[in-house]
Amino acid sequence: MSVVITGATGRLGRLVVEDLLAGGLPADQITATGRDTAKLADLAAQGVRTARADFGDPASLKAAFEGADTVLLVSGSEVGRRVDQHRNAVEAARDAGVGHLVYTSVLNAAESSLILAPEHKATEEIILASGLTHTLLRNGWYTENYEQQLQQARETGAVLTSAGAGRVASASRPDYAAAAAAVLRDPAAHADRVYELSGDTAWTFDELAAAMGRALGREVVVHDVTPEGHQAALIGAGLDEGTARFVVGLDTGTREGGLASATGELSRLIGRPTTPMAETLASLA
Ligand SMILES: NC(=O)c1ccc[n+]([C@@H]2O[C@H](COP(=O)([O-])OP(=O)(O)OC[C@H]3O[C@@H](n4cnc5c(N)ncnc54)[C@H](OP(=O)(O)O)[C@@H]3O)[C@@H](O)[C@H]2O)c1
Repeated sequence: MSVVITGATGRLGRLVVEDLLAGGLPADQITATGRDTAKLADLAAQGVRTARADFGDPASLKAAFEGADTVLLVSGSEVGRRVDQHRNAVEAARDAGVGHLVYTSVLNAAESSLILAPEHKATEEIILASGLTHTLLRNGWYTENYEQQLQQARETGAVLTSAGAGRVASASRPDYAAAAAAVLRDPAAHADRVYELSGDTAWTFDELAAAMGRALGREVVVHDVTPEGHQAALIGAGLDEGTARFVVGLDTGTREGGLASATGELSRLIGRPTTPMAETLASLA
């Protein structure tokens, strides 16, 4: 078995490599890739193969994927450029004769109104059209996404949001990495499957603030504001307008329930409950 992982210089991809190693997959059957292989030196020292793979450079992708049974395409982080980048990766996988492509998508990608969903939906369509055997891991929210709000709550005692009563079924990044590793260990068992992955519990922002309060040892309250008020506050705090609009857009999707589905599919895939939101916040604190 040979497995190639894109985005292994990032947090999720690295966790997947570490999970595969911990589960006993021989290091020389794993290829960790990224734009800068120097960031993978410690994995190389453990015997993991490394290769440069840049979504903007199709030749690098094809060379990195050559001979792989399975490729994990970790969605890129350059929002707005990802459809073309992912198309390059899918075409490279097809041209390299890869047997199975696994992709990290977003929860309910096909119907979601989340601001992030269109790029994932388009990528899924490219994968389906490629004819490659595939697994779609539609990842919900990482609890770690609230690290910055946790630091703000430490300083201000408040969580600023415009997500209203929207719930979030978050899980920890290592939970999602464990799911990807489970699929990579036995891809045939997950051929042409779509998994809606999320935490076991859908929490409210009041519950988030209470958990932050316990983690920080201070009172934390929710400041639930209008989208307009949220955007103005973020710009006032120094964010540029585009970033502020993006953050508010995420909260709008959250308010509309885009991150609320607690499907149980993640815990079933990893064979244990997902990590509770409060536990992840406590370790971040
Ligand atoms: N579910 C969620 O809550 C959530 C939250 C945030 C992000 N995401 C998505 O999940 C992905 C993985 O999350 P993460 O926490 O591991 O993100 P991350 O730490 O930012 O890692 C992103 C990875 O994508 C790679 N990448 C970006 N542009 C690339 C390009 N043009 N060519 C090749 N590689 C490229 C980065 O490589 P470099 O080291 O070269 O930059 C890095 O390895 C993200 O990229 C994003 O699509 C999901």
